[in-house]
Amino acid sequence: MKWKRTHNCGELDRQNVGSQVVIMGWVSTRRDHGGIIFIDLRDRYGITQVNIRPESNAYEDAKRLRNEWVVAFRGLVEHRPDGMVNVKMKTGAIEVLASEMEILNSSLTPPINIIGENVASEDIRLKYRYLDLRRPEMQACIIQRHQTAQVVRNYLTSNDFLEIETPYLMKSTPEGARDFLVPSRIWRGKFYALPQSPQTYKQLLMVSGFDRYFQIVRCFRDEDLRADRQPEFTQIDIEMSFIDEEDIFRIMEGLVATIFREVLGREIQTPFPRMTYDTAVGKYGIDRPDLRFGMEICNVSDIVRDTEFKVFTDAVKSGKIVAGICAHGCGGYSRKQVDDLAEWAKKRGAGGLAAIKIAEGTLEGSLAKFFNAEQSQALITAFGAQNGDMLLLCAEERDLARQILAELRNEMARRLDLIDPKQLALTWIVDFPLFEWDTERNRYVTLHHPFTSPVPEDEDKLSSDPGHVKARAYDLVLNGMEIAGGSIRIAKQEIQKKMFDALKISDEEAEAKFGFLLEALKYGAPPHGGIAFGFDRLIMILSGRNSIRDVIAFPKTASASSLMDGAPSEVDTEQLVELGIKIKK
Ligand code: AMO
Repeated sequence: MKWKRTHNCGELDRQNVGSQVVIMGWVSTRRDHGGIIFIDLRDRYGITQVNIRPESNAYEDAKRLRNEWVVAFRGLVEHRPDGMVNVKMKTGAIEVLASEMEILNSSLTPPINIIGENVASEDIRLKYRYLDLRRPEMQACIIQRHQTAQVVRNYLTSNDFLEIETPYLMKSTPEGARDFLVPSRIWRGKFYALPQSPQTYKQLLMVSGFDRYFQIVRCFRDEDLRADRQPEFTQIDIEMSFIDEEDIFRIMEGLVATIFREVLGREIQTPFPRMTYDTAVGKYGIDRPDLRFGMEICNVSDIVRDTEFKVFTDAVKSGKIVAGICAHGCGGYSRKQVDDLAEWAKKRGAGGLAAIKIAEGTLEGSLAKFFNAEQSQALITAFGAQNGDMLLLCAEERDLARQILAELRNEMARRLDLIDPKQLALTWIVDFPLFEWDTERNRYVTLHHPFTSPVPEDEDKLSSDPGHVKARAYDLVLNGMEIAGGSIRIAKQEIQKKMFDALKISDEEAEAKFGFLLEALKYGAPPHGGIAFGFDRLIMILSGRNSIRDVIAFPKTASASSLMDGAPSEVDTEQLVELGIKIKK
């Protein structure tokens, strides 16, 4: 490089007119206007227009420039001629009249449009991620991610939290997903696990007396991916001592409000509303309801139990439930639209979907005849339905019905355009059960993780009636997405043992897997609890994106691979031999 950069491409304005400057960046566009060459020079700060006249030393070389070449210009800042001022840009009133230019590097024609609407497919974007990340909208996401991390650090630091790192090579600790394993060369046949979260470490830090801990930390989970899941993702991980749920809610509400204020300039109201787990799954079918719209689920089993409609009556008799939602204004749906919805539901495991239109104050259509006047009115009242609405009902096992209706509710909200993308609907979900029954494994599993404390009045039920033990756990839900989850922990070794018993973890297994934690709890563990935010999810919402891949610099695909560097890949036989590993073909 011949010169030092004096300014970036986003900062020159009227005040700099008359100064000699050196700017460097990428050629965003090149236009030839009757002998004058205009270059839009771009860097992460913005775009500056460069004007290269035929008499300039840069002129001949400038003719060769192509998009994405890297260039340095030296020149004078001038006012743009009247009529060429762009008031939308910080640099829109000036241009740099180039006297000299240095080509710092050339570029192949990029396979991705860096500027403009025409975005490449996601596979191409991921393969050439370094170019995708050159796009201003992607840069904005990554910059916002950085800003948010700083806000989080400042807020937590000013509230006495200490940032403490914990190991990535650790002993496998189950948190519900599969571990990523790392074979040890020194200890042949033994494995480290990458942390699903630093859960046990942060609890141990409380035993050490650090009192308030946080870490913006990578977590690794080998689970099926979705738009809001990655195999490695980042948490804002937090733990506190001598606190209860109310302290956690207050400090975390402060954190969330500070983030929205400082990153987006938006005020959000605290305290956040709270909803019990039972209400959430009852009204919305799911423990992370999107509260930006209503359309609550209604269980109408009692109303339909004695109708003439056999599908419903048989279902109720066999212990299933009949429940549904009221789609406002969908009474005019065509046969085909209704059939498509039923197909949609069947793909998600439903036996079918009954659609009943409301007209002239009563039920209408082929199913109407199965309901007498009283039953019809009861249905209409239960849903608060009006003429022109349509009831969508399914008869399934309770959990399946909830699952399908929760999805249907979101689907209908999308179709009916009920969601205001600017709205922020936050709620705590509280009063979780400690366990849920896993039919496949034929035993109880935890809804959060095995270190979650039961509410004190249910401690006795841990062995006698685990299904009815409530947890001191909480999730924070924003627009239908779980953005954080946590709990007050078990601080007493005997309760932790009871917990393992309820999970059918034998003493030997508990000792082998969690002996260190059980031991630590014997040495004066303070009452403690915490929470972890899904940092990527939070950034995705802040930046208004639909995929967490957009807010992670180098994400994996939905099938957990990296299209750019080809990970995961095979390794040399010598590497495997050293580790004592043989691959079964
Ligand atoms: P949990 O498992 O609920 O709790 O995780 C906390 C938050 O992390 C986010 N999250 C994910 N984000 C992206 N990709 C994933 N695969 C993924 N999995 C989870 C979610 C979730 O709310 N140790 C406990 C926390 C605690 O109890 O303090 C834990 O990890 O936003």
